[in-house]
Amino acid sequence: MAAVFKKKIESESSGQVVNPWEVFVQDGEKIDYDKLIEKFGCQRIDLSLINRVQRLTCLQPHVFLRRGVFFAHRDFNEILDAYERGHKFYLYTGRGPSSEALHLGHLIPFLFTKYFQEAFKVPLVIQLTDDEKCMWKNLSVEESQRLARENAKDIIACGFDVTKTLIFSDFDYVGGAFYKNMVKVAKCVTLNKAKGIFGFSGEDHIGKLSFPAVQAVPSFPSSFPHLFPGMDNLRCLVPCAIDQDPYFRMTRDVAPRLGYSKPALIESSFFPALQGNNGKMSASDPNSAIYVTDTTEDIKNKIKRYALSGGKDTLEKQKSLGANLEVDISVKYLSFFLEDDFELEHIRKEYGEGRMQTGGVKNRLTEVLTQMVERHRKARAAITDEMVDAFMAVRPLPSMFE
Ligand code: TYM
Ligand code: TRP
Repeated sequence: MAAVFKKKIESESSGQVVNPWEVFVQDGEKIDYDKLIEKFGCQRIDLSLINRVQRLTCLQPHVFLRRGVFFAHRDFNEILDAYERGHKFYLYTGRGPSSEALHLGHLIPFLFTKYFQEAFKVPLVIQLTDDEKCMWKNLSVEESQRLARENAKDIIACGFDVTKTLIFSDFDYVGGAFYKNMVKVAKCVTLNKAKGIFGFSGEDHIGKLSFPAVQAVPSFPSSFPHLFPGMDNLRCLVPCAIDQDPYFRMTRDVAPRLGYSKPALIESSFFPALQGNNGKMSASDPNSAIYVTDTTEDIKNKIKRYALSGGKDTLEKQKSLGANLEVDISVKYLSFFLEDDFELEHIRKEYGEGRMQTGGVKNRLTEVLTQMVERHRKARAAITDEMVDAFMAVRPLPSMFE
């Protein structure tokens, strides 16, 4: 492990580092989500909350909710209280366009957000932070904007409803009411505070310091005057992976001082890298990730070569001892993407007790992911430039709550 990582981990009492830029733990350890909840101060999603979602939406909760992929929240119960009294909310999520294609980990918040949009019949804003990636990844302005449009196609392919969804690029949209909110937020956050939350140092350029305000303000309805005129009390719910929590801790901290409601959050764990549970699938290492553009052959080979196995190293041992399901990545991936609860339980039991081998589990996973990626590929191929323009047009959405 690189020396800087080691030093950072040692300075953390919890032995793990999770922020928007880095997710890592000590060698051989895995992310301890209970500790994260405690450190960040969010709440765990319990069964009663899941049952409540089912009752209010009259739909079976999404696999990601049923199986605890989305495991933490902030004030989600308040959103549901208000919803019960007939008050709607809006959804806000985003993507930093740093790579040509999305990997499976990126799809998680989007697939979940689509389910919420349909289930609660609410509007959605999706921020493409091309400015952020330009500043952090050494991409040119033009290249970041091009990637944003490419990524928008993958996002649209998840199935969002154009009558309820605005996708915007920061480079195009920031200004007017949005910028006024940014300035109000920025005035409330001292440099010391930003250093504490984001770990900025004296070596970081000032562009980085200015960015958190950009990610904060889509949480406020007044940043979208064409969508939410006169709806300043409309609440915002942000689905994201828990790495984004620091931005929203800052946002929630300043909101009351501006007379705004705090955004509520619903947060997911990480879809792990093929190599194991100790980080997140990341675009910076292509062999750790399965992309929505990978071919059937790529998927098969990556799973075969890289997916960490919890199976024993000889057939004999596997038969007598069974696999370690806790570390097995194929089982983990199936728990995200195999919808059939019974089949998943069957695989866990057979593999865990030695009647099934790693090869069989990997074959099933290859089938499941190939099918999903193929569906995505077809949907994406059908997205035209006109459709991207339609989603990105700054316009009112008259039937967004229907
Ligand atoms: P970005 O582009 O790094 O990631 C986009 C979304 O995907 C989540 N994510 C993952 N989820 C599960 N498993 C993984 N391995 C994994 N990797 C990434 C991220 O948490 C995120 O939800 N700054 C943001 C863009 C942004 C945003 C937002 C995100 C702007 N506004 C509001 C969420 C909500 C970014 O660079 O995300
Ligand atoms: N996870 C991103 C990557 O390495 C980086 C990232 C996510 C990020 N959120 C961010 C960078 C917010 C800056 C600000 O691809």
